[in-house]
Amino acid sequence: MRYSSLFFYLAATVDFKLCAAQGSLIKNTVALQPQIDVVGVSTLEGVVCLPDFFPLQDLDPMKPKSVDNYTIPQFDESGYIGPTSSIDSDVLELLASLSIEDKVGQMVQVPMWDMVGCDGLINMTYVNLMVEKYRVGSVLDSPSNNAGRWNLNSPQRFANFTNTFQQVAVTKGSKIPIVNGIDTLRGAGFVKGATTFTAPVNTGATFNPIHAYNAGRVGAKDTRSVGVHWTFGPLADINVQKLWSRNYENFGEDPYLIGEMMHAGVKGVQGNYKKDRTRIAATFKHFIGYSDPRNGLDQGDRYIPFNHLLEFMVPQFQRAIDAGSATGMEAYGALNGQDTIVSKRLLKTLLRDQMNFTGVLISDFNEIYSQFDKHFTAFNMSDATFMTLNNTSVDMSMGFEPFLFVDTVLDLVNSGLIPESRIDESVSRILQLKKDLGLFENPYSDLSLIDTVGSAQDVELARDGARESLILLKNENNVLPLSPEENVLFVGPSFNSSSYITGAWSIRMQGANEYEKDTPYGGYCDTILEGVEGIIGRTPNYIQGYTIEGDRVSGYDTIVRQARKADKVVFLFGERPGTEVAANIRSLKMAEDQYNIARRVIRETSTPVVLLLLQNHPYLLGELSSLSDGIINANLPGAYGGLPVAEALYGKFSPSGRQPYSYPKMDYQAPVTYFSPLWNEYDPEFAFGQGFGYNNITYSNITVSSAELRPGNPITVSVTAFNNGKMSQLEPVLMFTTQKIRREYAPERYRLRAFDKQPIAPGTSRVFSFNLAAEEMMFYNIDNERILSEGPVDITINAFNKNAVVESVYLHVN
Ligand SMILES: *[C@@H]1O[C@H](CO)[C@@H](O)[C@H](O)[C@H]1NC(C)=O
Ligand SMILES: *[C@@H]1O[C@H](CO)[C@@H](O)[C@H](O)[C@H]1NC(C)=O
Ligand SMILES: *[C@@H]1O[C@H](CO)[C@@H](O)[C@H](O)[C@H]1NC(C)=O
Ligand SMILES: *[C@@H]1O[C@H](CO)[C@@H](O)[C@H](O)[C@H]1NC(C)=O
Ligand SMILES: *[C@@H]1O[C@H](CO)[C@@H](O)[C@H](O)[C@H]1NC(C)=O
Ligand SMILES: *[C@@H]1O[C@H](CO)[C@@H](O)[C@H](O)[C@H]1NC(C)=O
Ligand SMILES: *[C@@H]1O[C@H](CO)[C@@H](O)[C@H](O)[C@H]1NC(C)=O
Ligand SMILES: *[C@@H]1O[C@H](CO)[C@@H](O)[C@H](O)[C@H]1NC(C)=O
Ligand SMILES: *[C@@H]1O[C@H](CO)[C@@H](O)[C@H](O)[C@H]1NC(C)=O
Ligand SMILES: *[C@@H]1O[C@H](CO)[C@@H](O)[C@H](O)[C@H]1NC(C)=O
Repeated sequence: MRYSSLFFYLAATVDFKLCAAQGSLIKNTVALQPQIDVVGVSTLEGVVCLPDFFPLQDLDPMKPKSVDNYTIPQFDESGYIGPTSSIDSDVLELLASLSIEDKVGQMVQVPMWDMVGCDGLINMTYVNLMVEKYRVGSVLDSPSNNAGRWNLNSPQRFANFTNTFQQVAVTKGSKIPIVNGIDTLRGAGFVKGATTFTAPVNTGATFNPIHAYNAGRVGAKDTRSVGVHWTFGPLADINVQKLWSRNYENFGEDPYLIGEMMHAGVKGVQGNYKKDRTRIAATFKHFIGYSDPRNGLDQGDRYIPFNHLLEFMVPQFQRAIDAGSATGMEAYGALNGQDTIVSKRLLKTLLRDQMNFTGVLISDFNEIYSQFDKHFTAFNMSDATFMTLNNTSVDMSMGFEPFLFVDTVLDLVNSGLIPESRIDESVSRILQLKKDLGLFENPYSDLSLIDTVGSAQDVELARDGARESLILLKNENNVLPLSPEENVLFVGPSFNSSSYITGAWSIRMQGANEYEKDTPYGGYCDTILEGVEGIIGRTPNYIQGYTIEGDRVSGYDTIVRQARKADKVVFLFGERPGTEVAANIRSLKMAEDQYNIARRVIRETSTPVVLLLLQNHPYLLGELSSLSDGIINANLPGAYGGLPVAEALYGKFSPSGRQPYSYPKMDYQAPVTYFSPLWNEYDPEFAFGQGFGYNNITYSNITVSSAELRPGNPITVSVTAFNNGKMSQLEPVLMFTTQKIRREYAPERYRLRAFDKQPIAPGTSRVFSFNLAAEEMMFYNIDNERILSEGPVDITINAFNKNAVVESVYLHVN
């Protein structure tokens, strides 16, 4: 239903008359929730109350219509559209009309699973309690993810669910609509039928920010269709520790690359969110330093010098703020020994005063409670809550025990320990967010969006992102592309699974489980097997061989024999979907059965072997790296990655992804990055930016507009790329700098300063041009001051690739 027809529809329904004297934002006529035809949940042989974990059943018979094409209104998205330091007068008026109970309730976020009964239906007793007694302002997650069932996530049922508690919210308690948030991190992963995009690490590998924008844009629409207004993404963390379980959730190991992706990603999610009701609020997270645990374990201790933090971790968050990100999330655990959730230095001085963030700041899950429950940094809930409110500008608490938070804050205010002005500061930001998102105009979901969920138009965008994300790293004797006539043996369970090539934060936080496999995708996916079958026109030759954990299964012993008979063998290496502590690993060493069988095939047969990597982590390739003939790193191309991967293997297009992180050769390299000191060892398996295509692209005529680089006088760098190959090539061009001498501070080996990606037709050339400013060469010294130091600078196009070209300039400080 479009907006106008929604009003028409509402006029025909009963209105609630309210005698409230609140500010003008609260209407005294409140609409009933729109009606959605939701057919009943199927029951299993009359069993209504399902156990928490109920495998292999998709009990929601509904699916979205998924129209082929759709149009939605366009709004001007240019310029800064985001929170500001001023709060609208009608928001302040509303704030002034609220009781302290109304206000404190706005600061808490309740998990949606708390309101799902064992029958899978909404628990209205809980909803009434939450609204009337606790005046809850926000809700997170979905009716199924952590409630353990997949029976409530068709967009129709999900929307009906949120509209049902929203109607209670706008008619009872503070009567303020609830803002709902969810982890829409690669498309709306918790909405059935919603288009799944690649993992962000793949988006980074595309070196094409349009894909971050598209994932955000489509994910926002699909999320809004179910009455959810806010996503806890994108992530601006940096992949500097390769053991860490969450690297695939980020855009790579370079601050500039991440910053470009963050800017596009926030714009895609939010657009003009103050006008566009198909958009949602974005969150930059996790602020800050979360991604660098010493031992590689999630939430492990981080010790990051402040100058390093400012140089390599802050800029990408600043890009998200500059893109208008309406909200931010602090990070789990401690940085430099201090709990982030109470850090004045990080959350006030740095984030608010220096980076000028004015939007809503939310805690990561349970972090206030964790101070005394887990971290031993507070005596009790009161102590923990006091420190967070007193020392930081955190506005909202996400976690278990939401009602305890409300009671605790009320006690702190009533006893005078926390001034009411501190509460007003947070609540004004939260209410402004709700106004900007249009919740006071219409608190319910937009029914017209439901039919667009899973549209072919969106699926094509997801596939394009996956296509551009595939990284060709080795291709001896042109083993690739494969030809449909060849007898190719495919080995590995990722060949016949959408869930394994998608990863976590899809279907459920930890990904679809082993019992469900791909069924919860409801057909909104394809496997690599299906992609290959479509291209070769027959059933592919496939042996599973090992489990997703890498342990042998029946068929393992036939692999060498079958490999001898084949023209080529493609091994698919994978990893079970997972995130956070549940996905911790202790070594980058690959599972032995998986490694050994590939090694045996290489050693005991003469059949050429291709490695296809589909994993959360860069697992060590050992000897396989030199012994194999071809390597493609596909990371996690997503539920629609099946066809694109098959197309790349069979040369339907030439790959164009580049490594967005350094791929270690041995465990000791887990914390190695390409920007380590110039004179230090950098000897990874695959370097940052490495990758090529099926065409031979040569570079020439690198030219600088001036050989003297001075502040205030940017120079232009241009280079010509020629396509010697037979196919069209989408070519990413990466420009790096190296300051050859930098007094006192060892220069980094390289720093990425710019990139661009354009198609080059076979037999033609294209000129790429970039600007370089002296100011970009500034760096933070030990006193945390950003300084410039003179010296010779090399400008390198495509460092670490065979076709690199270099030009030199001299950097002056004035
Ligand atoms: C919408 O959800 C409510 C609450 O779960 C339920 O009572 C109602 O039947 C649903 N509406 C339809 C049309 O099924
Ligand atoms: C519904 O919520 C109330 C209040 O929290 C709780 O006491 C009750 O057990 C819940 N009912 C179900 C079916 O989960
Ligand atoms: C933040 O605001 C201050 C004061 O207006 C300004 O000096 C500073 O440059 C701003 N910082 C950023 C990163 O925009
Ligand atoms: C919480 O801890 C603080 C600090 O030790 C103490 O003063 C306070 O009495 C404690 N509160 C409760 C409810 O135990
Ligand atoms: C923090 O606590 C101190 C000491 O109790 C108090 O003076 C100050 O007003 C508090 N600040 C905030 C923002 O709550
Ligand atoms: C946090 O607040 C407590 C209580 O006011 C105070 O003792 C402590 O110094 C504060 N810490 C910081 C980093 O401001
Ligand atoms: C409709 O969707 C199809 C499938 O993605 C796409 O190929 C086509 O270009 C779209 N047509 C329009 C008019 O957008
Ligand atoms: C692929 O997996 C599906 C179940 O997800 C199964 O039905 C099918 O037999 C498998 N195909 C092959 C070739 O193993
Ligand atoms: C690419 O083409 C150039 C120019 O023709 C040639 O010198 C070079 O050897 C080729 N490289 C490869 C890898 O084929
Ligand atoms: C080299 O590039 C410069 C700058 O783009 C251009 O002016 C010049 O004509 C080019 N030379 C050749 C030989 O292409």
